[in-house]
Amino acid sequence: MSLSLLPLLLLLSLLPLSLSLSLPRGTLINCGAAVKSEIDGREWLPDTGFVSGGTSRNLTTPGLVPILSTARSFPNYPHRKFCYTVHVYRNAKYMVRTTYYYYGSDSPPVFDQIVDGTFWAVINTTEDYANGMSSYYEGVFLAQGKTMSVCLGSNNYTESDPFISALEFVILEDSLYNSTDFKSHGLSLVARNGFGYTGPIIRYPDDQFDRFWVPFEELNPLIPINVSNSNASVSGMWNMPPSKVFESELTTGQAEAMELDWPPGSVSESKYYIALYFASGDSSGSRVINISINGVQYYKDLDVKPGGLVVYATQWPLSGSTRITMTPSGRSIGGALINAGEVFDVLPLGGTTLTRDVIALQGVKQSLQNPPPGWSGDPCLPRQYSWTGITCSSGPRVRVVSLNLTSMGLSGSLSPRIANMTALSNILLGKNKFTGPIPDLSSLKLLEKLHLEDNHFSGNIPSSLGSIDSLHELFLQNNCLTGEVPDSLVGKSGLDLRTSGNSFSAPPPT
Ligand SMILES: *[C@@H]1O[C@H](CO)[C@@H](O)[C@H](O)[C@H]1NC(C)=O
Ligand SMILES: *[C@@H]1O[C@H](CO)[C@@H](O)[C@H](O)[C@H]1NC(C)=O
Ligand SMILES: *[C@@H]1O[C@H](CO)[C@@H](O)[C@H](O)[C@H]1NC(C)=O
Ligand SMILES: *[C@@H]1O[C@H](CO)[C@@H](O)[C@H](O)[C@H]1NC(C)=O
Ligand SMILES: *[C@@H]1O[C@H](CO)[C@@H](O)[C@H](O)[C@H]1NC(C)=O
Ligand SMILES: *[C@@H]1O[C@H](CO)[C@@H](O)[C@H](O)[C@H]1NC(C)=O
Ligand SMILES: *[C@@H]1O[C@H](CO)[C@@H](O)[C@H](O)[C@H]1NC(C)=O
Ligand SMILES: *[C@@H]1O[C@H](CO)[C@@H](O)[C@H](O)[C@H]1NC(C)=O
Ligand SMILES: *[C@@H]1O[C@H](CO)[C@@H](O)[C@H](O)[C@H]1NC(C)=O
Repeated sequence: MSLSLLPLLLLLSLLPLSLSLSLPRGTLINCGAAVKSEIDGREWLPDTGFVSGGTSRNLTTPGLVPILSTARSFPNYPHRKFCYTVHVYRNAKYMVRTTYYYYGSDSPPVFDQIVDGTFWAVINTTEDYANGMSSYYEGVFLAQGKTMSVCLGSNNYTESDPFISALEFVILEDSLYNSTDFKSHGLSLVARNGFGYTGPIIRYPDDQFDRFWVPFEELNPLIPINVSNSNASVSGMWNMPPSKVFESELTTGQAEAMELDWPPGSVSESKYYIALYFASGDSSGSRVINISINGVQYYKDLDVKPGGLVVYATQWPLSGSTRITMTPSGRSIGGALINAGEVFDVLPLGGTTLTRDVIALQGVKQSLQNPPPGWSGDPCLPRQYSWTGITCSSGPRVRVVSLNLTSMGLSGSLSPRIANMTALSNILLGKNKFTGPIPDLSSLKLLEKLHLEDNHFSGNIPSSLGSIDSLHELFLQNNCLTGEVPDSLVGKSGLDLRTSGNSFSAPPPT
């Protein structure tokens, strides 16, 4: 589900900043921009250092805020992803937000959004675009390594190019949403609202992490809005909501129940994290309410005091539309009330490729002058978006088992780091323009096929190749290899050895 924003409202709040206010920490990327910009005292970087490929776009719509006035688009190749890679603090929890505002005049593309190895969401901004609005998607994810990636992947729903306007990584305090096990799950925002609030979106500096709390009025039927003079103590709430959300509320009169169709629209069948925030404005006493969601009891006899409180469910099943019913209990001196709420889809993480293989592949990529397009993000995951030419093992320990880069016009050298990819059984690099030596591959005990034919490899054939028992195809023909074919390979049983078309000092044995 996309969340919409009026483009002209976004980031237009030129607020005076007091020096004591600490800025949200993280990385803000203005996609497609050529230069840095500063907005509300926060620095937005151009995206060139975070992504390779794609085309930057300038929007001509007048009056757009800076982050919506540029975008970057990527070619639409099915099952290929294009990733932004951002340096992060390992084990820190990040709010990740992507913003989309289409630059074209046709209908916007529909594509996939991926975080690390996990499919996150289908991006469909069609409706927002038709309404002249930008869309944003927000999630909470743990940095499991030193970098995190957010990728756009082409599915087959539409033919136009995937694009993005802005990408934000903001570090969250440890206590936020900490009932979630972020090692195995992420959170994908469905709704975050301030109830009974009618002003502009509540965000930084009211929210120290720049989360967006969107005004929500229930109009059908109308639930009255009340200005609340509660004294909510937000520092005691682990999710640290901004105190401003407690300044207004939706409320009913004495003994009247409140029915709220929220989150609006329909949600897909999944488990959801739901947090509801309350603070009573009655200093004279408390309000006691029963809460149910779609008729299932969520919390009974909730005693709402002026100091405020939050009740949350970590994995609440929802599907379709949602109705929250709040019933004041007999003990209550007032009606039902609610100040704010958050709903996130609890997303099981898809895992990541074994780090050893990732590091080795980065070495292989770096020594190529023209790495294959789409070699970014996680190499194996999500499975439908593995890197071009790469095959991976199934099961929980995901490893690269085959590298097939045949006839891809690649030049550069073959990094010795490939020797760390110990699950490899095939290395097929034939018909390219590789130069330099063949590295020592003797650590690849499972290697069956090594095809290096029709390249410009030079130097000697490493005799250590003879120690790989499983090797049964070694294709070296038509390179610039010199020296002699090692004895360890000549006559090795079960080996199909091809060496013609090189410059050996002794003629290869027949
Ligand atoms: C977009 O505008 C900037 C600044 O005006 C300019 O430097 C850049 O070349 C433009 N980019 C494109 C793709 O037109
Ligand atoms: C995208 O959203 C529009 C408007 O809600 C809808 O008509 C269309 O079917 C969606 N496209 C896909 C591929 O889901
Ligand atoms: C899109 O891809 C899916 C899975 O690969 C396939 O089942 C579906 O038929 C495709 N749809 C179109 C319109 O090509
Ligand atoms: C969440 O954070 C709060 C405040 O730091 C702490 O008291 C609580 O034990 C944490 N809960 C979990 C499950 O880590
Ligand atoms: C509105 O708020 C005031 C003070 O916070 C309270 O006294 C009053 O009962 C509330 N009205 C309703 C309808 O709840
Ligand atoms: C909140 O605090 C102010 C001043 O500290 C006090 O006047 C007011 O009565 C308090 N409101 C409630 C609902 O406790
Ligand atoms: C609130 O829930 C409790 C426990 O389910 C029940 O005993 C009580 O009658 C409920 N109160 C109202 C007003 O529905
Ligand atoms: C390797 O890739 C080439 C070109 O895409 C393809 O023709 C060949 O069948 C592949 N080989 C294997 C073993 O997958
Ligand atoms: C293989 O990985 C180890 C650490 O896991 C590293 O020390 C070593 O340098 C790597 N080997 C190559 C050839 O890159």
